[in-house]
Amino acid sequence: MQKCLICDSGVNEFMDFGRMPLGNGFLDQSQFTDEYFYNLKVGFCSRCTMVQLLEQPAREQMFHDHYAYISSISSRMSEHFKSFAHTIMDKYLIEPDPLVVEIGSNDGIMLQHFAAAGIRHLGVEPSTNVAKLAGAKGIETVCEFFDERLAETIKGNKGQADAILAANVMCHIPYLHSVAAGISRLLKPKGVLIFEDPYLADILEITSYDQIYDEHVFYFSLSSVQYLFGVHGMEVIDIMPQNVHGGSMRYTVARKGAFGISPDVGEQLLKEEHLGLKRDTTYHHFREKVEMSKNRLMTLLLALRNKGRRVVGYGATSKSTTVMNYCGITPDHIEYISDTTHTKQGKFTPGMHIPVKHYKEFCEHYPDVALLFAWNHGEEIMNKEKMFQDGGGRWLVYVPQVKIL
Ligand code: SAH
Ligand code: TYD
Repeated sequence: MQKCLICDSGVNEFMDFGRMPLGNGFLDQSQFTDEYFYNLKVGFCSRCTMVQLLEQPAREQMFHDHYAYISSISSRMSEHFKSFAHTIMDKYLIEPDPLVVEIGSNDGIMLQHFAAAGIRHLGVEPSTNVAKLAGAKGIETVCEFFDERLAETIKGNKGQADAILAANVMCHIPYLHSVAAGISRLLKPKGVLIFEDPYLADILEITSYDQIYDEHVFYFSLSSVQYLFGVHGMEVIDIMPQNVHGGSMRYTVARKGAFGISPDVGEQLLKEEHLGLKRDTTYHHFREKVEMSKNRLMTLLLALRNKGRRVVGYGATSKSTTVMNYCGITPDHIEYISDTTHTKQGKFTPGMHIPVKHYKEFCEHYPDVALLFAWNHGEEIMNKEKMFQDGGGRWLVYVPQVKIL
């Protein structure tokens, strides 16, 4: 039995997705023969309640000089991070000349607002291509992986931080004890860590199994986050659900006793008990729902193919790598995937090698059906694609249920 990355006890595997390529491993034809694969399996630790991958590729394999995810591509997420930044400025930057550190700052989607306000800031971003984009916007960025050692260096150079921020990155880091220890050293006595990630209860509720892929080593609940930071003399003082990435949770963490604890924390813990997040059976039920979703999706795709309908994918998300490889979606089922990210265009999807094409291809020759892989941006996309819909185009979605809209 594999050991839990957080508390060292045994992890119970509940789902095996099989052989899987890197979620963001878009590739050229010349790279097909030496593509990297690993086994995508996920398990639950009944001691500390952390849901986690049982195997993860080395970090340098995922985060490097051609990292495909560029945060500012989504206007909805740009708005979200603007509002996140202003919440921090209004609520937590009280002392004079404050310092804000962001872990996984990508192209500076959030830090640009602190930079514009003249607030001292530092981004920590190991993927050099996106770190450079932030640098070009005047955002101070150190191109390294955050851990306890780097936290000490930052503290030595800049002093302690008033706020440490992280979005969609804590769940990527297997060495979370080093990260938490570093945060605890880097924060001022009254400093706060505020981070958000996809929330386990939402993943279970809407069967968004595509959130499970190499980069996401952890699937947080409040109870597992509380356990982790408790080990490092910190506690969750507040939470706030977020309507992004299919349902996320924002956690505010501080040193034990530094602040009062919001009643929302206790209420959410009770809710998690009722949802069965601490019971093995909950995860077995999830596996059954995932298997059902796969069968329905493939039945529909086959039916569309038999009717001669043109189906294309919309949004070459890293999440879709799990769906395509687990379900067996090939270029036989979908012609190509449309995506607005220039680093993905002209490449092929990991594992199934479906071409990723420029968005203009989609606009110039609408398909009959678009399989919405970027379902988490569904509202933004459907508002944008009125012409496709008005011309009779249909959406095929698989979250929360497989259906044609
Ligand atoms: N915060 C952004 C980016 C999320 S993608 C957003 O929400 O849009 C995750 C980012 O974390 C990537 O840019 C990746 O390079 C970075 N990352 C991965 N491991 C990291 C680590 N140990 N320390 C800091 N950043 C890391
Ligand atoms: P996203 O779901 O945010 O992330 P992940 O890769 O972590 O699963 O990625 C959205 C993808 O969809 C990204 O490659 C950009 C693309 N996209 C479009 O092509 N058009 C759009 O209108 C939007 C919002 C996204």
